[in-house]
Amino acid sequence: MANDMIYFTLGLFLLISCYSDRVMAGDPDPLQDFCVADMDSKVKVNGFVCKDPMAVSADDFFFGGLGQAGNTDNPVGSNVTMANVMQIPGLNTFGISLVRIDYAVGGINPPHTHPRATEVLVLLEGQLLVGFIDTANKFFSKTLEKGDVFVFPKALVHFQQNVGHENALAIAALSSQLPGAQTIANTLFAADPPLPDSVLAKAFRITQELVDYIQKQFA
Ligand SMILES: *[C@@H]1O[C@H](CO)[C@@H](O)[C@H](O)[C@H]1NC(C)=O
Repeated sequence: MANDMIYFTLGLFLLISCYSDRVMAGDPDPLQDFCVADMDSKVKVNGFVCKDPMAVSADDFFFGGLGQAGNTDNPVGSNVTMANVMQIPGLNTFGISLVRIDYAVGGINPPHTHPRATEVLVLLEGQLLVGFIDTANKFFSKTLEKGDVFVFPKALVHFQQNVGHENALAIAALSSQLPGAQTIANTLFAADPPLPDSVLAKAFRITQELVDYIQKQFA
């Protein structure tokens, strides 16, 4: 009988510790209605400190900037217009943001990662080839039609290309107030100061002359 009691207590303890592990793994719930970013504060925290709630207005939760197409007249033929905490201070601490992506015919949003966010994209106009590569180097890809949705898992390298005959337009939601982006080609070939030629030549199994040539394309 005493043994039963010990096992029961032990089981309960294990159950509670499993459960609390899971709770601890997620972001903490907000402890107040909002924490609008105070961009003028000199205090550094993970994110932004809260503005005085009495000074918060509807404008802190508003952004009118996703109505206009971004200019796609650039080498990649696409343009990402962001709606994150930098444009909408009211997103601070909420783990969510949006982007609008415009694509010229043939334009790409080149292979990149968001270190802090999963992305879910909905295609509003045109036709897009999309894909991501997982850490086992498996490539997952689809061609999207208007209305289709695709998910890019957090931190994995992904891209989109307009494979239709008209401009394409997508809206994507990201699970961070400030997802961050590293575009692979730029990260490696346009870093400042530049990566050593010897590193890139060996990594890509090409000559240092070819490394210099590629670096010049980004200048
Ligand atoms: C994206 O579009 C905006 C608005 O037209 C423009 O100011 C910006 O320079 C464009 N960015 C690129 C990379 O072309």
